[in-house]
Amino acid sequence: MAEKIGRVPAPGAASAPLDFTGQVAFNTGAASGQGRQVALEFARAGADIVALDVGQAVEYPAVQHRPDDALYSLQNEIEALGRRAVITPADVRDDAAVTRAVEQAIATFGRIDILFNNAGVLGYAEVDSISDEALNATIDINLKGPMIVARRVVPPMKAARRGVIINNSSVMGLRGGARLSHYAASKWGLTGLTKSWAIELAPYNIRVISIHPTGVNTPMNDSLAEMEGATAIEIAERSAGNLLPIPWVETEDVAALVLWLASDRARAITGAQYPLDAGLLSG
Ligand SMILES: NC(=O)c1ccc[n+]([C@@H]2O[C@H](COP(=O)([O-])OP(=O)(O)OC[C@H]3O[C@@H](n4cnc5c(N)ncnc54)[C@H](O)[C@@H]3O)[C@@H](O)[C@H]2O)c1
Repeated sequence: MAEKIGRVPAPGAASAPLDFTGQVAFNTGAASGQGRQVALEFARAGADIVALDVGQAVEYPAVQHRPDDALYSLQNEIEALGRRAVITPADVRDDAAVTRAVEQAIATFGRIDILFNNAGVLGYAEVDSISDEALNATIDINLKGPMIVARRVVPPMKAARRGVIINNSSVMGLRGGARLSHYAASKWGLTGLTKSWAIELAPYNIRVISIHPTGVNTPMNDSLAEMEGATAIEIAERSAGNLLPIPWVETEDVAALVLWLASDRARAITGAQYPLDAGLLSG
């Protein structure tokens, strides 16, 4: 039976800025979009950063940039903020590379407080014509990847008896979508992981939460637009169904939610699903 924590003093005034000084945030998919923004915001709030991204552009659609270059420019930006950054080019499907990344993080910082399980890919495919490549990449990167990363990050969290894991799912982890069954299945899988890990890890004071954004203004939508012969904003508007009059949310919206959930302000929250959906799931 886990020892109960008892009455813990409130973590400061709700109006005080979030402060992650002395903490380490491990971010996957950190070279681009949401992962990059979240890593930078954690650094601005005082955390040291581990930034993991695939060492070369993955073959499956929706990744168009050169992650290596992007990772190293991220490192410069983090260091300019006065924080330390460990850059780990690695594919979340590659257990040996992920293990090396976690070992490097522990050797450098001695701890990992936060895991933002964020790396992912997206492409459209109908159920009767999806390719093996698209099916395998989607399930292996979006669903198996977070499991491969978590099984290496959880041991140091367990030893420290503290930690927060935030899984970046999608509104597609709480609903369905035409030509998106493979993606939705991977993201619903993350919801199952979140709830199960929350049960398993609560005795170690490790919280696990999933977030569920509607369309986010990132390069992922540019790639989809290219495939569809549309603009990114058309893709967002066509597929989103947001109630609020916005085509998508911004990476800053994602970072605001992730940092709050990772902070002690959210110390009583685990196993929960947080929509960032501009009302889509209520429609
Ligand atoms: N953009 C959206 O509209 C949207 C909406 C809801 C959820 N999401 C989810 O948010 C997450 C972040 O996406 P984004 O919008 O920032 O897109 P993005 O394409 O800008 O960033 C995704 C990052 O993941 C990395 N990545 C891909 N495969 C990888 C692998 N095998 N190993 C390591 N890194 C890998 C890419 O290199 C890239 O840097 C994804 O999981 C995505 O499914 C995106």
